[in-house]
Parts: sequence; structure tokens; C-alpha cells
Amino acid sequence: MGVSCAIRVCVCAAIGLLIGCQSTSLRRASANTVPRLNAAQATMVGLSSEEAQAAAKLCTTKCMRCHQFYHPADYGETEWRSWMTKMNRKARLTPDQAALLTRYFAGLLTR
Ligand code: HEC
Repeated sequence: MGVSCAIRVCVCAAIGLLIGCQSTSLRRASANTVPRLNAAQATMVGLSSEEAQAAAKLCTTKCMRCHQFYHPADYGETEWRSWMTKMNRKARLTPDQAALLTRYFAGLLTR
């Protein structure tokens, strides 16, 4: 009983390690800098270059006050949307600011 128990614990630990490693390596380099939209990306989501710049700044001042930058490409669409509902509230964004950030994140997903 002692041996099979030890084996089971070992297998569980190995699986845990595997899953742990995989989920971190799948993540895109989330960083402490906020990416800028290039001109093509800004155009795709209908932002002027000033607006695109304002959006990146908003992300720096509002979102990164609490944590690192998270890239929307690392999340499923619905997953990201539900995070944003929650985070827009946490960041106390006005509806205009929230709409601007939504476009900015959509822009990051275009190429
Ligand atoms: C007041 C602090 C605060 C602000 C402001 C804030 N967040 Fe968060 N964020 C958190 C905390 C705490 C978590 C951890 C998860 C939770 O709260 O359930 C989190 C989690 C997240 C996650 C999920 C990370 C994961 O575990 O994969 C994303 C994405 C995210 N935030 C994006 C944003 C964006 C974008 C903004 C700006 C609109 C923002 N956050 C503003 C505190 C904040």
C-alpha cells in the first residue's frame, strides 16, 4: 500500500509539473511594456494615430497600475471579453475609455 501510494503521488506530481510548464510556455511574452498599434492596425480598427496612442497610454496608466500587460492573443475571445467586463470596472473606465481600449485590443489581434 505504501509503495502504490507513493507511485500515485509521484505520477500526480509529474502531471502537475507538465501542465504547469505547458501553460506558462503557451503564454505569449506578457511584458511590462504596452505594445503600440502600427498604422495599419490602427486603421483596421478605425483609430487615428492620436487615438491609438491615447489607448496605449490608457492601458499603461489604468491597467498596469495593478499588473503586467496581458495580450488578448493569449485568451479565447469569450474569455477575454469576460475579463474585460471585470477589468473595465476595476479600472473605473468611462464607457468612452472602455470602447477605446476595446478597439485597441482588437487592433493588436490584426496583422
Ligand atoms: C485595481 C486593480 C486592477 C486594474 C485597474 C486592472 N486589473 Fe486586471 N486584474 C487585477 C487582478 C487582481 C487580477 C487577478 C484576477 C482576478 O481579479 O480575478 C486581474 C486579472 C486580469 C487578467 C487575467 C490575467 C490572467 O490570470 O490570465 C487580465 C487579462 C486583465 N486583468 C486585464 C486588465 C486590463 C486590460 C485592465 C485595464 C482595463 C486591467 N486588467 C485593470 C487587477 C486589476
